[in-house]
Amino acid sequence: MVTLTVNGVRRDLDAPTDTPLLYVLRNELELSGPQFGCGLAQCGACSVLMDGKEIRSCTTTLAAAAGKDVTTLEGLPARWAQQKGLAHVDLHPVQEAWIEEQTPLCGFCQNGMMIKATELLEHTPSPTVAEIKAAFTTSGPSAHLCRCGSYTAILEAVQRAATTMRGK
Ligand code: FES
Ligand code: FES
Repeated sequence: MVTLTVNGVRRDLDAPTDTPLLYVLRNELELSGPQFGCGLAQCGACSVLMDGKEIRSCTTTLAAAAGKDVTTLEGLPARWAQQKGLAHVDLHPVQEAWIEEQTPLCGFCQNGMMIKATELLEHTPSPTVAEIKAAFTTSGPSAHLCRCGSYTAILEAVQRAATTMRGK
């Protein structure tokens, strides 16, 4: 039995401890935000926040998540509401910005892009363009990959989200 917190809810999970966290999130908890892309920590599609840090859930075992606080794409609104002392919000400002900028193309990579953007903006409220590019390329185990080439739209969405988050 492994206990962790997912999107603010304590979960006791019986899966084998070497099960990838991604499988537990998708198959046991029916959270479909994190995607299976490469399975090798090389694309970022499966990203979640673990104790506020973006990690690749495809190569993180359930055992490694024991006692941790995991936030998936689905948990971003509640995370923002808690940070701001609000009872409820429909969407995190990052998610709002992604919609307003019409960022996704096929959408497959965008879970990881929004998770990475959230991690960045929680620590760097006014990132420079260079800092945004670094966050998505060199700050984690590998660059976040978008096969559709939505990188410019992602950069603009991060800037929009930063402005919103600073103002709220
Ligand atoms: S599926 Fe995890 S990094 Fe690609
Ligand atoms: S929007 Fe298609 S892979 Fe990024």
